Amino acid sequence: MASLSLSPPLCMLFIFFFFFFPFSSSFTLNNINNNNHSLSFPLTLTKTHVSESINTKKQRLRTLSSYNVKSSFKYSMALVVSLPIGTPPQLQQMVLDTGSQLSWIQCNPKQRTTNVKTTSPPPSTSSFDPSLSSSFSLLPCTHPACKPRVPDFTLPTTCDQNRICHYSYFYADGTYAEGNLVREKLALSNSQSTPPLILGCATAEDSKDARGILGMNLGRLSFPSQAQITKFSYCVPTRQARSSSVTGSFYLGDNPDSSRFRYVDMLTFGKSQRMPNLDPLAYTVPLQGIRIGATKLNISASVFKPDAGGSGQTMVDSGSEFTFLVDEAYNRVREEVVRLVGPRLKKGYVYGDAADMCFDGNAVEIGRLIGDMAFEFEKGVEIVIPKDRVLADVGSGVHCLGIGRSERLGAASNIIGNFHQQNLWVEFDLANHRLGFGEADCTRLAK
Ligand SMILES: *[C@@H]1O[C@H](CO)[C@@H](O)[C@H](O)[C@H]1NC(C)=O
Ligand SMILES: *[C@@H]1O[C@H](CO)[C@@H](O)[C@H](O)[C@H]1NC(C)=O
Repeated sequence: MASLSLSPPLCMLFIFFFFFFPFSSSFTLNNINNNNHSLSFPLTLTKTHVSESINTKKQRLRTLSSYNVKSSFKYSMALVVSLPIGTPPQLQQMVLDTGSQLSWIQCNPKQRTTNVKTTSPPPSTSSFDPSLSSSFSLLPCTHPACKPRVPDFTLPTTCDQNRICHYSYFYADGTYAEGNLVREKLALSNSQSTPPLILGCATAEDSKDARGILGMNLGRLSFPSQAQITKFSYCVPTRQARSSSVTGSFYLGDNPDSSRFRYVDMLTFGKSQRMPNLDPLAYTVPLQGIRIGATKLNISASVFKPDAGGSGQTMVDSGSEFTFLVDEAYNRVREEVVRLVGPRLKKGYVYGDAADMCFDGNAVEIGRLIGDMAFEFEKGVEIVIPKDRVLADVGSGVHCLGIGRSERLGAASNIIGNFHQQNLWVEFDLANHRLGFGEADCTRLAK
């Protein structure tokens, strides 16, 4: 079991949070935002290994002050979208992450310092080769995004000897990785590409896994902010017992199904609300309660809202597999589960160091005893998890309620993970500061 050590809150980082970034761009994706047109991409729910789930968390080491504990999840289900990057486009797999800001791709380290085209065959991995793209450029140190003390952009950046903006970080497990900040275009369709966007170009030594991150939060450097996309949505397919990857959908722009979505207002945070444990760039939702079966749990709604220090915020995070709850909420959920199926709990077992409501034996039967689960929001909007999907298969015949303790992650927030977003459209309507939910058969949609 990993020992927990809480680092001091990175309050300093938030002091300059709303520093203005002069990223000029007159570009708009007119067809996407204004003409009721949208672009859709297949979204694959894919089992990824632990090194990558740590990658996903690394951004958060800077935004959430206290994600400092190594996750010991063996694998994690990530939402992966393939996007064509560069000119001509190279298809890159990226993990869709509404919980982080900077997008990055895995670059081919052998080619990164030279523009000379080589005659050697392309690398066997699917990492991005900058030397093959005419629209690729390295970000110079003079760019505002390369100022290490501007917390809107929280990667620790430095200038290297070539006056190139360089960033480096330690993964949560202590592994060192590094890369450059670059500018590159994304081709969204045959006729549309974005202007050059600032991305991280990771040059990790261990590049077995070439997946990058598509950072989708509210920060100025996130993909929607830089590409000026005002609405996006995804539909997470259900896990299939015998398949390690299933396909749903990802939309940029209007969703053709949105007339039946139910919306909740996003909580937004202004300049005056600089709280050490708050991530103001997250998609914060007004969760009010949790129901298991017919029982509304006795949890005060204030547990799901940021307190004076910013703890207790509830965010929708596509980059987290499980949902995480602060102790006060987690304990009430656990008490109810113990009441319903206590004797069936796998004693002394904690999955991923954070989830201790796990079971051996027949998941369907145990799920039936637990019942449907619901996350209740304002205005009667809710996310309902049917009883046949309340348990997650974590391997070796073990099933766990898809909820972990935030404290074990070192987080002070409630996080609604992708396990609880299956068969659901989740729409992020940035212009109207709201999130929409609509039940759907996401796997069928993709066909
Ligand atoms: C887009 O759709 C909305 C309603 O769905 C409609 O009011 C509007 O006129 C449409 N705009 C265009 C450009 O078609
Ligand atoms: C609900 O919880 C509060 C404090 O956590 C407690 O005072 C109250 O008695 C509880 N209500 C019920 C019905 O259990």
